[in-house]
Amino acid sequence: MQTIIFYDSKQYEQEFFEQELFNKFNLEFRDYELFPETKLSYAEENAEIISVFTASRLTKETLEKFRNLKLILTRSVGYSHIDIDYCNSKNIIVANTPHYGDYTVAEFSFGILLNLIRRICYGINELKQGDLYPETFGMELFGKTIGIIGTGSIGSKTIKIAKGFSMNVICYDIYKNPDIEKEYNIKYAELDTLCKLSDIISLHAPLTTTTYHLINEEKIKLMKENVVIVNTARGELIDTEALYHALLDGSVKGAALDVLEFEDTISNKRPGSDLNLSNLRTSLINTKLLNLNNVIATPHIAYDTKEAVDRILNTTIKNLFEFINDSDVKNKV
Ligand code: NAI
Repeated sequence: MQTIIFYDSKQYEQEFFEQELFNKFNLEFRDYELFPETKLSYAEENAEIISVFTASRLTKETLEKFRNLKLILTRSVGYSHIDIDYCNSKNIIVANTPHYGDYTVAEFSFGILLNLIRRICYGINELKQGDLYPETFGMELFGKTIGIIGTGSIGSKTIKIAKGFSMNVICYDIYKNPDIEKEYNIKYAELDTLCKLSDIISLHAPLTTTTYHLINEEKIKLMKENVVIVNTARGELIDTEALYHALLDGSVKGAALDVLEFEDTISNKRPGSDLNLSNLRTSLINTKLLNLNNVIATPHIAYDTKEAVDRILNTTIKNLFEFINDSDVKNKV
C-alpha cells in the first residue's frame, strides 16, 4: 500500500483523512512542519506522496532527502514555501487548493483593518484593566479610497466587501480583468498611482519574483499621509525594514498584518534554525515591528474557518485521486 505522509497536521485533519482514505493508503501523520533540518525516517525518505501546509519550507535541501517523491499536496493556495523549479526538474507534481477561502481571507482583511483603525482589541483590553475612556480615536471606512493589489480570487471578494462599506476602490494587477471592472465598476491604475491615491492599501497578490518587496521605501514615499496597509497575502511582498521605519516616523499610520516576512524565524517550532546574520536581522525587525502600537499582527490565520478548512481537505482528496487515477491533476501549479 502506498504511503502518504502528512506534515503539520491537526487532529481534525487526521480524522478526516483516516476516514476518507481508510484501507486505501498507509497514512502517517506528523504534527510538526517539514524543514531542511527535519530528520526523516526510512518511510519518509521513500515516500512518493507528502502533504504540507504553508509553514513548512520545501527548499531544494529539504526535497533532496526524499528519494521517490512524485506528488506534493499543499493544503493551501500559496506555494511560495515550495521550490517549484526543483520539483519541475524532478517531475514532482505540486497540487494546491485554490478558491478554498476567497471570502474567508477577504473578510479577515476587513477584520484586522477595522480592529486597527478602530482600536478594538486595545479598547477591549483597556476596559478589562478598568479604563472606560481609553484613547481610541479612530478613522472610518465610509468614503475612503482602498487600493487593492491583486484582483484574483481573494482580491475580487475584497473589492465586493469594500463596495459594501461605500468605499472608492482602485486596483492594480499585472492582468487587468475586464469582468471585474464591469461587475464592480472599478478602475485599474498603475501601482504608483494606487500608492498616491489610497487611504488604505490591501495586498492580495502571490509571492513571486515580481512581487517580492513590491511595497518598498520608494513606494511608501509615494503614499498618502496617514495611509494604512493591510497584508494577508505574504510577508515578503513588503520590505519590512522600510515599513518599520515608516510606521515609526508616522508616514504610514498603521499596518494590519496576518503574514510577516520570513515568518518561520519567529516560530518556536524551529528553534535555532538558520541563525545566520540575515535571519537574525529579520527576526529582530519582526519583533520590533510587532511591538509598535500602530501594528496589529495575527499568526497567519486569515484562512482558518471551518468552511475553508473543509474545502481544503476535500480539494486535497480530489487532487490525490486525480493523481492516483492518472488523470490530469487540475490544480497542478
Ligand atoms: P489568485 O491567483 O486568484 O490571485 C492573485 C492575483 O494577483 C492575480 O490576479 C494575479 O494576476 C495577481 N498578480 C500576480 N502577480 C502580480 C504582480 N506582480 N502585481 C500585481 N498583481 C499580481 O490568488 P488568491 O487566491 O487571490 O490568493 C492570493 C494570495 O493570498 C495567495 O497567493 C496567498 O499568498 C495569499 N493567501 C493567504 C492566506 C492567509 O491565510 N493569510 C490564505 C490564502 C491565500
